[in-house]
Amino acid sequence: MQPVPALLTFLLLLPLVLHGQPQLVRSELSSVDESGTLQCVVHLPNNSIFLQQLDRLQTTVQELIGKYEQELSRAKEFAHAPEDQDSQALEMNRMQESRNPGVISSPYDHPAFNLLRLELEGAQELAAQLKAEGGNNGAADLLHQLQSQVTNASLTLKLLADSNHRSFRALRQEVEVLEGRLSECEREKEQEQSSRDPGLPLAPGSCAHEGLQKVGRPLVLKLNWRGFSHKAGAWGRDSAPDPASSLYWVAPLRVDGRYFDFYRLHKSYDDLVLLKHYEQWKMGYGDGSGNTVYRNFMYFNYYGTNDMAKVDLSSNTLVLQRPLPGATYNNRFSYAGVPWTDIDFAGDEKGLWVLYATEESKGNLVVSHLNDSTLEVEQTWHTSQYKPALSGAFMACGVLYALRSLSTRQEEIFYAFDTATGQEHHLSILLDKMLETLHGINYCPWDHKLYVYNDGFLVNYDLTFLTLKPRMPTPLIKRPFGVRAPPKSFKSNKPS
Ligand SMILES: *[C@@H]1O[C@H](CO)[C@@H](O)[C@H](O)[C@H]1NC(C)=O
Ligand SMILES: *[C@@H]1O[C@H](CO)[C@@H](O)[C@H](O)[C@H]1NC(C)=O
Ligand SMILES: *[C@@H]1O[C@H](CO)[C@@H](O)[C@H](O)[C@H]1NC(C)=O
Repeated sequence: MQPVPALLTFLLLLPLVLHGQPQLVRSELSSVDESGTLQCVVHLPNNSIFLQQLDRLQTTVQELIGKYEQELSRAKEFAHAPEDQDSQALEMNRMQESRNPGVISSPYDHPAFNLLRLELEGAQELAAQLKAEGGNNGAADLLHQLQSQVTNASLTLKLLADSNHRSFRALRQEVEVLEGRLSECEREKEQEQSSRDPGLPLAPGSCAHEGLQKVGRPLVLKLNWRGFSHKAGAWGRDSAPDPASSLYWVAPLRVDGRYFDFYRLHKSYDDLVLLKHYEQWKMGYGDGSGNTVYRNFMYFNYYGTNDMAKVDLSSNTLVLQRPLPGATYNNRFSYAGVPWTDIDFAGDEKGLWVLYATEESKGNLVVSHLNDSTLEVEQTWHTSQYKPALSGAFMACGVLYALRSLSTRQEEIFYAFDTATGQEHHLSILLDKMLETLHGINYCPWDHKLYVYNDGFLVNYDLTFLTLKPRMPTPLIKRPFGVRAPPKSFKSNKPS
């Protein structure tokens, strides 16, 4: 039995091509043995089921290729359409306030393309891996075909991107549908997992783990409601570790990237995705994208000051405003590439936090725990990280995690500071991104997700945490921790 972590990547690809057949995905997911500790680890047995699965994968990939070939021919039709198609292609959102057609120079730079590219790369990786592990001849044959088909799909995508800018609109629409399906599937998977095995995955809001282990692939939900030109902003889910607060909020800043004037609230994920119900409020006094929502209050930096402000979201009322002692402001020590983020709020399992820098700290990041009702600073910790060198930070279970940019496509969570122990350490957890800049980064303890505003797009990531190490009372006990009963596949073949 071989664990194949990349298989999940491929399964994520499946809903792209399964028209109205999410059932197939589910049965594939449940038909493989899971190790239980990692939702991405899947075992492939060396038997006929393995071959059947390969067969299915192959069918799926064929469908995928069919789809891209369709797209390609459709794109060619678009090439002969009149000139005005071009500007339509760039119209991302009907509510967009100011058009800026120069923004997208090539559709291949577009996040949707990157998403597809990433997924195809994942599939290629998987195919290569399966091939390396494949045992008998039949499987090797299938795998060889699979691999070249995935490669072909990638080539088609590249061709499409390079050959024709005007195909962008058609592809964009298609991709929006696919993204919707992906997020639907993601949620189904999540529900299924929480109902299937409540004992093994980390319980909502739980800190029973040993810190961050990895970050999942980016899930692009949609463009923000104000349009592509609103590149700065933040969004998230109420970060109270509480199921009652399934409140989602979206706060795109003005086009200037500084002034925080409007926000929208959605009572559920569906409302957000389908844009069915929302409340839209104007507040008009926030500075930058460091805001967060905790227990139905929004916390943010009051414009042009080092004041913290607190707004009651049930009535959009400013209920409290007080200075954050020593905090610099007016873009003195913002995150790299994200101006006006002097004062960055964060919520997690342990409460409400504020991340900032002072002159005394020489610009190094300072973390304070706040009393969320009075906004008084309860305790402060000093880190060794120069805030303007970081691209962002968030809190989870009282641990500060800091990010830096590795490239236009990748970030690294490279530093952690545990407020419980005052210890810091370096780590390297990579995070893919669609576009260059991560603006607001917010964590929600209830679903263990990271909500990121990526140059106007609403993106989220699943976080995986290290499971608690078993305490072995005596070295003689060799049984793996947490295994209550042997899995079905380990049944002994007793002759009857
Ligand atoms: C897999 O099964 C084939 C026959 O079905 C056998 O020849 C081969 O040795 C097996 N490989 C492994 C790694 O068990
Ligand atoms: C991949 O594309 C090449 C050239 O277009 C073609 O000859 C080959 O049959 C394709 N392979 C598959 C598996 O579709
Ligand atoms: C916050 O401050 C208020 C008023 O001083 C106090 O009553 C409350 O207990 C504090 N909350 C916490 C969690 O310490």
